[in-house]
Amino acid sequence: MSADRQPPRLRVERHRVLVVGAGVAALSAALELGDATLLVDTVLGGGSSPWAQGGLAAALERGDTTVAHAEDTVTVSGGIGARPAADVITAAAPEVVHWLQSLGARFDTDGDGSLVLGREAGHRARRIVHANGDATGAEIVRALVDRVRANPAIAVREHTTVVDLVRSEDGRRIVGVVALDRRAGLDRRDEQGGRDGGLTVHLAGAVVLGTGGYGHLFAATTNPPQVCGAAMAMAARAGVDVADAEMVQFHPTALAAPGADPLPLLTEALRGEGAILVNDRGERYMAALHPDAELAPRDIVARGNYAELVAGRRPMLDARAAVGERFPERFPTVFALARAAGLDPRTDLLPVSPAAHYCMGGVATDVDGRASKAGLWVVGEAASTGVHGANRLASNSLLEGVVMGRSVGRLLRRTARPAPERVVVPAAALHVGEHDAEVFAAVRQLLWRHAGVVRDEAGLRAGLAMLGGMVDAEAGTAGPTVRNAVEVAGLVLRSALARTESRGAHCRADFPRSDAAQAARQIVHPAAAPSIVLDIEPAGARPVDAGHLVVAA
Ligand code: SIN
Repeated sequence: MSADRQPPRLRVERHRVLVVGAGVAALSAALELGDATLLVDTVLGGGSSPWAQGGLAAALERGDTTVAHAEDTVTVSGGIGARPAADVITAAAPEVVHWLQSLGARFDTDGDGSLVLGREAGHRARRIVHANGDATGAEIVRALVDRVRANPAIAVREHTTVVDLVRSEDGRRIVGVVALDRRAGLDRRDEQGGRDGGLTVHLAGAVVLGTGGYGHLFAATTNPPQVCGAAMAMAARAGVDVADAEMVQFHPTALAAPGADPLPLLTEALRGEGAILVNDRGERYMAALHPDAELAPRDIVARGNYAELVAGRRPMLDARAAVGERFPERFPTVFALARAAGLDPRTDLLPVSPAAHYCMGGVATDVDGRASKAGLWVVGEAASTGVHGANRLASNSLLEGVVMGRSVGRLLRRTARPAPERVVVPAAALHVGEHDAEVFAAVRQLLWRHAGVVRDEAGLRAGLAMLGGMVDAEAGTAGPTVRNAVEVAGLVLRSALARTESRGAHCRADFPRSDAAQAARQIVHPAAAPSIVLDIEPAGARPVDAGHLVVAA
């Protein structure tokens, strides 16, 4: 057998706790843990977090209460938001703002140094903390990244793509991850010349996933390319429960800039300042759809804009009178994005489209961030604690990421290193192929077309049929992103098909009403993918056979 045909001998590393992710949830977990290894797909601070233009919600105004914040969170959730989880994140919010300030985050303040508190749709009080107007995520990430980089106890591995979860031999516990060292590349060889494909088995006493949602799997999205459902896909292949995959929040006002992917976000705060939506006939259509017009809940405004597009009209945001000359100072991020698209929001109408923005669905966890298999913890958008239900309240996502990251980090401070001798991984994890941009683009198109703003049975079934063809074509040869995309697309389509009602962001044209009998989370218990056993032995161990690999420890 040539060296290339040998089963791979994978490197093995042992850690106390592994944190996977680059954004606020993963960074907060690592900071609270102190002694941890952080695996990052691209670079620290990548992902959605630094793109967040909205702020962080906290009941800090005199007269406001964390209970009122929790109530607003559940009210907006379409009737299925989990109150215990809402209580946890809202109760922690004021202290989180102070913690972030203590780490160096600079929030917007008024002349006497008090925090400026803004109001957003669905909040009954002024409770949104911002930084640099519309760059809150970037400022929080900057402060967290500085602290992580300054902490020698946190080992940071950038350009490391986690491809699958590693289970104990009985399959019941998550004991690590298989990761691709992208700097080493697929051609990396072991000392015998066998190709290990740049893969390493990282074993840990606990794994924390904070890799974000799956918004970029929709062709129209505000999410960066890293946000492709890695956590949900890996969890499903390991037989870990996922929840509410159909619950995807579409932001009403992404800038419809030709050729832009992702689409630049035009923050809801613009409508909060009085910007209005008009179509190319000059009609202001939202007032006819909801008493709060442009400040109606996000799902209603998204469907209003979508209806204009479907009718062949062009929805546009008009911020000329409401913001006008204050634009560069008040919304510097949006101003720069619009200018880059050749528009001047002080004088131009801004063409908009709904776009996938935030995933309420994710890996199912309890209110402590614990997944359905021991050893696995999931935080931030990757998780579904149930707090957001069918619709997330504005500015609750940075908050949830920081609160849950910190709380999981604290819970895992005493975790010990593991010493498993035999583990199980999905077989396909060992055959990482090159990225297939065509298949990836096709998955994104089919999700947007068939599981987008408005869905129906025929479309969802058509999407599943198309996906079935792609799975056959790609089995065993796909790169990690395409494998994850196909896995997550299947979960979204099947969950959307199973929820035969409309609720919050999930809109079924064939079931336009909510059904009280379906007012609950939808938890899926996936069967683990076909797997392979690995023996963890001292360095120099040889593979036994292709179905029972021996790896060097
Ligand atoms: C926005 O600024 O419109 C988005 C904020 C959020 O997603 O909470």
